[in-house]
Amino acid sequence: MINFSYHAPTKIIFGEDSELQCAQLLRECGAHKVLVHYGGSSALRSGLLHRVCQCLQDARLPYVTLGGVKPNPRLSKVKEGIALAKEEEVDFILALGGGSVLDSAKAIAYGCVNEGDLWDYYTRKKTITGSLPVGTIATIAAAGSEMSNSSVITNEEGWLKRGLSTPYGYCRFAILNPSLTATLPLYQTMSGCTDILMHTMERYFTNEPAMELTDEIAEALMRTVMKHARILLHKPQDLASRSEILWASELSHNGVSGDRTLGDWACHQLEHELSGMFDVAHGAGLAAIWASWARSVMDVNPKRFAQYAKNVMQVAEGKDDTETALAGIAATESFFKEIGMPTCIRELGISLSDAQIDELSEKCTFFHTRTIGGFKKLDYEDIRQIYRKARS
Ligand code: NZQ
Ligand code: ZN
Repeated sequence: MINFSYHAPTKIIFGEDSELQCAQLLRECGAHKVLVHYGGSSALRSGLLHRVCQCLQDARLPYVTLGGVKPNPRLSKVKEGIALAKEEEVDFILALGGGSVLDSAKAIAYGCVNEGDLWDYYTRKKTITGSLPVGTIATIAAAGSEMSNSSVITNEEGWLKRGLSTPYGYCRFAILNPSLTATLPLYQTMSGCTDILMHTMERYFTNEPAMELTDEIAEALMRTVMKHARILLHKPQDLASRSEILWASELSHNGVSGDRTLGDWACHQLEHELSGMFDVAHGAGLAAIWASWARSVMDVNPKRFAQYAKNVMQVAEGKDDTETALAGIAATESFFKEIGMPTCIRELGISLSDAQIDELSEKCTFFHTRTIGGFKKLDYEDIRQIYRKARS
């Protein structure tokens, strides 16, 4: 038996034209003035921003807008948002976009309520005590921030990327219309699918006693994501597959496929430093690292990797768990290649020098103050070795 807690307070509205319910949902949440936050240009190009603003105008709900969030969202934009939100006295933040826009919205919501330099909260010097309410209309199936309590922000000073999970980090509602994700470029779609897979893998690779039901959910989720990623590779407009992937992105990061606190998360820590320093797409960064991590830690519990190999990658049983586990890792690499994801850092277009590996490793250990990983604890030297193995 394991002990765990489960908390998923976000109201989900899923389906065609669901974004048209945004004003009603905002009213239900007691919003009087809304900051509508969005990214570079996709919300403008798709007409989503226009439709949402029209809904708010029709409902006579005052709003201001702030666009320009970049992938791997920046602290400077967050600070701009906090200043605007305070000046305009908004009492609700509505994010239109992916994980980057939503994480930026969550950070603005924290900054409106918690005094002082927001970065002190992301670096654990201070503790968040509240937040403005946040809601979202998702346009990409990937990070799962819609149902997680996390926000991941990059500070341009030092290019440090840090995640913050708090009891106040949940959205009040998340509107999920799979059609809105159909305009995503293929690379971004597959990067999202990889991130979804990885949110379940990070939970699955644990040495805690297994719960059969949780394992079955996790394995089904991973198989389903792989199946529909393959369909989208050839039919990117397939709405049924877009729906499966979008719902999987939520279930992968809302605790249903495993308690996050019992998981591993080393790949995420390794990747956050990569995307902080080199601005790569998060899911692609995970794909570039995963196999090097897996081969480095597999010996701790080859049985678990063998179970993954058989039940998720559907490889034949080898002569022992180690052989089966290695076949499962190789099959995962082949899957990443098939969907156009990198399987090493060079394939991200980055030629890492030894000095850069040292810098990444230092940042990843928070400058020699922590280890990472629950499946196997990794220290500075272990982390360096994984980056080295993942380099070429
Ligand atoms: O800026 P725009 O023009 O909107 O373009 C975006 C962006 O370039 C584009 N895009 C989004 N929806 C689109 C679209 N393009 C066409 N059609 C659409 N419908 O996609 C690009 C990537 O967007 P982004 O929001 O960065 O992607 P994603 O959702 O993968 O978010 C990644 C961020 O989330 C963090 C990552 O570290 C990264 O910073 N994560 C957040 C988590 C959380 N809060 O729980 C957990 C994750 O593990 C992850 O760390
Ligand atoms: Zn992720």
